Amino acid sequence: MPGFEVIGAEEQAEIDDIFARGGVLFRHGFDAIRNGSYKVREFESAFAEYMGVPHALAVTSGTAALRVALAVLDLQPGDEVVTQSFTFVATAEAIIESRAVPVCCEIDGTLNMDPVDLERRMTPRTKAVIAVHMLGTPARLPEIAALCERRGVTLIEDAAWGCGGSLDGRALGTWGRMGTFSFDFAKTMTTGEGGMIVFHDRSDYERAAAWHDHGHENNPSVPRWEDTRSGSGFNYRMTELQGAVGLAQLRKLADVVRRQQSNRDAIWQSIRDLPGVVAREVPRGSVETADALVFESPSPEVARELRKRLVDAGLATKILPEAVTWHFAATWSHMPELVEHHGDLATAFPATAARLARCVSLPVMVNMEDSVPARVRAALASALS
Ligand SMILES: Cc1ncc(COP(=O)(O)O)c(C=O)c1O
Repeated sequence: MPGFEVIGAEEQAEIDDIFARGGVLFRHGFDAIRNGSYKVREFESAFAEYMGVPHALAVTSGTAALRVALAVLDLQPGDEVVTQSFTFVATAEAIIESRAVPVCCEIDGTLNMDPVDLERRMTPRTKAVIAVHMLGTPARLPEIAALCERRGVTLIEDAAWGCGGSLDGRALGTWGRMGTFSFDFAKTMTTGEGGMIVFHDRSDYERAAAWHDHGHENNPSVPRWEDTRSGSGFNYRMTELQGAVGLAQLRKLADVVRRQQSNRDAIWQSIRDLPGVVAREVPRGSVETADALVFESPSPEVARELRKRLVDAGLATKILPEAVTWHFAATWSHMPELVEHHGDLATAFPATAARLARCVSLPVMVNMEDSVPARVRAALASALS
């Protein structure tokens, strides 16, 4: 699974370096006592370079990253933002926090946004689309990006789960006008809590940087307490401690993804011939982050039985089929804004409900024991044969 498995001496060394150079934990200022230690700034530059984009802004979480990205768009009440019905609840929360109307669409065999249903759910009020790369597999970005372009709608990627993946050689998160990442403790790279936004456009970056810092423009010609501002904002600033850990984790990202892919492939080879196991659809040109292996089973009953056999064998599933409550909009009746738009949520996404109920998702660890593929096969085979 994630970056927490490989946390160690490198992260510790980056933290120690902060204290060796004066212990300044705030990303801005204190220049005279920090001896050149700017971990968040360094992390942003390294992340932007890794992703092949000119700008990156570190924030406190993946949820904050979505909120700050939406702030750049200056949404007005009544504007609609469409995302997919299978995502983490944070994607919809950020839309609601931005005073926009949350709209969800069906997923297809990729378990990501179905571009055909996306178009159906767009209206003249649609201002943005948030495509999510759920469980590490790229969404159909060429189709979604072309549709957004045709309709004059901003594309944002929620790459919370896509960090280190790519499509057609372009990093996930860099296809849209902005891409957001999560570094929470379950993600492919982690800073405990944390997030990042990447940008192509300097003015988008500047707007986000100010908004995430109470509107501060960090004008170099005045002290911070006399700083210039042209709008208000909030506080989503990352601390130097998180920046330090992020720097060390980023250096490990390619290796983590490579090992996850190899472990995912080993599990898949051991189960691919079992009757009723159907691979998740993967867009051509995808490099997946592979922290989960998802397949479809013949029915919801079989999917639940497969989960039971896995748990009985001391193994686990990841979100599917049992834990969709935080990840499927049909269950979010606690969000009045979503209910107001869609009506009865339980029946609003029938294709997604039917597909998710049939799917099984297996966690993929970086430090996987060699016995896992055979144990997974044994557990599944006992229910499928
Ligand atoms: C798709 C998606 N978006 C956003 C988030 C929010 O990230 P964070 O936990 O860092 O706030 C998550 C977290 O799991 C996620 O899976």
